[in-house]
Amino acid sequence: MTPSLTLSFPEADIALITFDLSGKGANILSLSVLGELAALLDQLQSRSVLAGLVIKSGKPGTFIAGADIREFLASLGAPKSEVVAMCRRGQSLFARLSQMPFVSVAAIDGICVGGGAELAIGCDRRVMADSPKTEYGFPEVKLGLYPGWGGTVRAPRIVGLANALEMITTGENIDPRTALVMGLASDVVPAEKLLAAAIGVVRAEKQSGQYLTDRQRWAQPIAVEPTELGFLGATASAMIQQETKGQYPAPMAALELMLETCQMPAAEAYEREAEGMASLFGSPVNAALINVFFLTDRNKRDTGLDRAGVTAANVKSVGVLGSGIMGGGIAGATLKNEIPIALTDANADALARGAKQLLEEAAYNKKLKGPDLAKTLKLAPLLAVTHRLEEIATADLVIEAIVEKEDVKKQLYAKLEPMLAPAAILASNTSTIPITRLAEGLARPERFCGIHFFNPVRRMKLVEVIRGAKTSDETVATAVAFAKRIGKSPIVVGDGPGFLVNRLLFPYMNEAIELLCDGASIKEIDRAATAFGMPMGPLTLYDLVGLDTAVYAGMVMYQAFPERVVAAPLVPAMVKLGRLGQKSGKGFFSYQNKKGRAEEDPEVEKIIATYRRGTRKFSRDELTNRLFLPMLLEATRMLDEKIVRDVRDVDLGLIFGLGFPPFQGGLLFWADRVGAKKLVEMAKPLAPLGKRFEPTPLLLDMAATGRKFYAT
Ligand code: NAI
Repeated sequence: MTPSLTLSFPEADIALITFDLSGKGANILSLSVLGELAALLDQLQSRSVLAGLVIKSGKPGTFIAGADIREFLASLGAPKSEVVAMCRRGQSLFARLSQMPFVSVAAIDGICVGGGAELAIGCDRRVMADSPKTEYGFPEVKLGLYPGWGGTVRAPRIVGLANALEMITTGENIDPRTALVMGLASDVVPAEKLLAAAIGVVRAEKQSGQYLTDRQRWAQPIAVEPTELGFLGATASAMIQQETKGQYPAPMAALELMLETCQMPAAEAYEREAEGMASLFGSPVNAALINVFFLTDRNKRDTGLDRAGVTAANVKSVGVLGSGIMGGGIAGATLKNEIPIALTDANADALARGAKQLLEEAAYNKKLKGPDLAKTLKLAPLLAVTHRLEEIATADLVIEAIVEKEDVKKQLYAKLEPMLAPAAILASNTSTIPITRLAEGLARPERFCGIHFFNPVRRMKLVEVIRGAKTSDETVATAVAFAKRIGKSPIVVGDGPGFLVNRLLFPYMNEAIELLCDGASIKEIDRAATAFGMPMGPLTLYDLVGLDTAVYAGMVMYQAFPERVVAAPLVPAMVKLGRLGQKSGKGFFSYQNKKGRAEEDPEVEKIIATYRRGTRKFSRDELTNRLFLPMLLEATRMLDEKIVRDVRDVDLGLIFGLGFPPFQGGLLFWADRVGAKKLVEMAKPLAPLGKRFEPTPLLLDMAATGRKFYAT
């Protein structure tokens, strides 16, 4: 096997270890790579003539992307003692690095996170390349863990407790400049000068001997006043509680650990770090978040097709029809990625407004909290705002986002299609009209598909690429590649009512209304959903989406699945009374206060009372089952109908499209944890409510055979 690490000597007294995993885009710290590092440290240990060791990556623009998460996955069921041992092995390797008989320096160009960041703080010093690709961080909490190879011990000793707490409990990366200010980096230099700078640091440290003083200091408890410790603990814990709502245990575990271990000698602190890891590693939240990691990883590599050999066309320019909420968002996301764009709208005012907004959005700079002038000047020439369809027609990809009316869309296609280049792709952002039906009448239906974005486009990562009956593989591959280029996570979905996300959202929304009519309160229903982890309750979501929009979507669903969708007169009644949700100032809640915040409204109770069938009390479990079982059962029908290619697309779609809680790992991942047998039992008492609770053949089969969604 080709070694991943090489040892060289750029100067007689300088050792250089270069990480370069062959055939891999990034360096990962697998057990075998750590073994190689241990062997090299053995070799170097006795060379006391050395002035120092530099560790760098052989891959420009990426240092070390962390530990091998596939190995984590394989060890999820490991006993606690093995988890502790895994941490101890990593800790002792990096502790050895930190005690070599010479100066050690990490030369970091590109991403340096997780286990890579722990290796780098195992060194005496770090120098960083001044590039936007260089980022440093401890993202372990995003996997339901904390750094367990010494990170929680060394980071606070090197950068101070407050900085380390912020980095480790949020999991956010920092840039080289911030690292320099924190004292994490000794120097920030252009990438090509990195090695020379690292050698310079070795020489300076050897001369001053400062690194030896620091080694002694870092072995001790941190000098921190009890009042400061109390203040840090209180503020950090309040922030963590707000962010995690108690649903993600790792940040709080890291906080408590670090507050305690900062007052111990390092050797004792390492032990506590390893022991504490045993309660996080392999926990349900850890397993769920690791699943989400792999969902995203698979999505990055997925071409959207199950066969190889189809090449996606390179989209060099995009046309957008309709400059409303969605068209503007789509055009903005495209322009932001420096793809030339032409935008049109039947309404001149809408076009002018949309163009201004989208340019501001595309040039938005987080730091400035507004548009960046240089970026605006760079992007403006790439944007054409036009009333001429001919100008739109020169694009490689045209995305239509005009009103949701089939005949209006079809009329526009009839005019546009003859002007398009034969290889151009036409796509619709429709949320309800079947793609196959929109393609009727097109001369090239194979070059037509759905590209369904979510609102607000700026924030929502999910894109559904919808394959009509005649859509070609090339069209699908091109749409998928384009969506990725503009930073989205596309999933390919078969044509059908509501496509993927809205089809699964509807049974849940529908059931919330049924529960209201059965006697549950708005508050109880919404709380059951948020306690499960949803970002907001279904009734709050009605108000956000708009009750009129919900009625329209409900009609589409009712027509498609009359046996499962309950036609609830309550929502249309609310619409008739002008209660459209946030946009009209009142829906299930009232928003008529200064800050536009949701407030309970006694008027709503009176309206609901007209439609109430019962007044019984519901337990939290009952509410949760009523809300999520119809969603799950619908997902099994979609798998059966092959609307989705893989169970992972369902889970990714719901997490990125609906905010389904990542700590549950996805709808089907959650279902696997509960188990098909139990789910069937949970659905049984609900069967009298209607077909929507009837266990599907797929679920029954899984219950009988013990098969899991993730095994398929
Ligand atoms: P919108 O009403 O904000 O914008 C539509 C724009 O299309 C308007 O500016 C209108 O002047 C223009 N328009 C109408 N007929 C036209 C024509 N013949 N030629 C050129 N422009 C025309 O609507 P929105 O919300 O942006 O929706 C657009 C499409 O996106 C619809 O198909 C909708 O179903 C879909 N969609 C909407 C989502 C949402 O949350 N609003 C989410 C996902 C999809």
